Amino acid sequence: MKVLYVASEALPFAASGGLADVAGSLPKALRKRLIGCRVVMPMYDTISQELKDSMTFITSICVPVAWRRQYCGIFEARANGVIYYLLDNQYYFKRDNLYGYYDDAERFAFFSRAVLEMLEHIDFKPDIIHCNDWQSALTPVFLSTIYSDRDFYKDIKTVFTIHNIQYQGTYGKELIADVLGLPEDATSLIEYNNDVNLMKGAIECANKVTTVSPSYAEEILDPWYSHGLDNILLMRRFKLSGILNGIDVDGYDPSTDSRIYKNYDVNSVDDKAVNKAELQKDFNLPQKPDTPLVGIVSRLVGHKGFDLVRAVLDELLATTDIQFAVLGSGEWQYEAFFNEMANKYPDKFAVKLGFIPDVARKIYAGSDIFLMPSKSEPCGLSQMVALRYGSIPIVRETGGLRDSVSDSGDNIGNGFTFKSYNAHDMLATIHRAVQGYQNKDGWRQLVVRAMNSDNSWNKSANEYIRLYKDLLK
Ligand code: GLC
Repeated sequence: MKVLYVASEALPFAASGGLADVAGSLPKALRKRLIGCRVVMPMYDTISQELKDSMTFITSICVPVAWRRQYCGIFEARANGVIYYLLDNQYYFKRDNLYGYYDDAERFAFFSRAVLEMLEHIDFKPDIIHCNDWQSALTPVFLSTIYSDRDFYKDIKTVFTIHNIQYQGTYGKELIADVLGLPEDATSLIEYNNDVNLMKGAIECANKVTTVSPSYAEEILDPWYSHGLDNILLMRRFKLSGILNGIDVDGYDPSTDSRIYKNYDVNSVDDKAVNKAELQKDFNLPQKPDTPLVGIVSRLVGHKGFDLVRAVLDELLATTDIQFAVLGSGEWQYEAFFNEMANKYPDKFAVKLGFIPDVARKIYAGSDIFLMPSKSEPCGLSQMVALRYGSIPIVRETGGLRDSVSDSGDNIGNGFTFKSYNAHDMLATIHRAVQGYQNKDGWRQLVVRAMNSDNSWNKSANEYIRLYKDLLK
């Protein structure tokens, strides 16, 4: 079986969010299970020169974008034993960022079309094309319209994965003639609420639609989570399922991670104390070994649940022996609030604004507790990394948080959870965790259980393989 995995970002080449982690690790897990899997992504200018130097040029082709004909260079690279194709067009991709431009729709219409056009020019004809998020949502749309009567393409099946339903690729209808070049009778596929909606088009056209956790697959049928797409998903429910992401357990391994202060594993969890002391020093917090230290690593945006934190943090810090080490950047309101708390409680609360991967690792290793109270979370990666590093997650029961963290009240679970999106429920849960922390033996057992949680791709890669096989029956 041959799978072409289409992503707008993939590690180690380019990353802005969790999709890059998945596109950098799932293909490797599939290859291990003898599935032929290659990845295709844009050749961004921001890819490091070292990686660019390692690529080989295969050929160049001409890609239609409505009435335009655009150059597309095809490059090949290898990472983790997987072949990555990088599609080059400097007009579209020689920019400082991955997304956020006035012509994003055209840039990714080009990319999605080029994915299909390149197939006749490389030595890999996929049985399945697996697309992700709105940036490659047009590939299944083009395949089932413009390419449907071409012999070469007729047996290819498509899977579309929603990583976050909030970002759908919504544009004005003028896009249809000017950028998409879809035939008149196909336009209803991508129209939604009087706009063009690329994600909706992929939901219509792909043979299977998946999302990144079973709970999120249920949640997005509900208007509270669906950002307007619940109706269309309900109609297409028969092809929707949720498969929980895994993490690259070799890349995130406290026993070998060179970015943390001291390596440790389940047999030496007491060495986490060294990491904690150093982390406290790094963040200018007093080095108190017995005060529970809470880590947060996150984009500082609304859906991550920071409204809840803002509502009760002052009260928590004023009354509890607890410390926080926070890393993240995002909305001004949260950055300002965290700065204010750091000024008011310098011995208890410290924040670094920005995204600094090395510091993130140090927080996972050095913190006792990891707070992630998301309003919605399709899958979430940080809670899985926190578990692997023995930092006990406190999460709201939503999406992938619900599917990877269970409450330890029963002495089986690996974290602390709360149900409603309510600040005092979160606060009570933090108090439960702080209380649990006082019981040293019980806490050590919890850390070991957390570190033993299986968040590798083992189970999920097999689920994808089952899904692919189903399609080829
Ligand atoms: C998106 C989601 C996140 C998920 C990631 C990878 O970034 O917001 O929850 O973990 O995609 O699927």
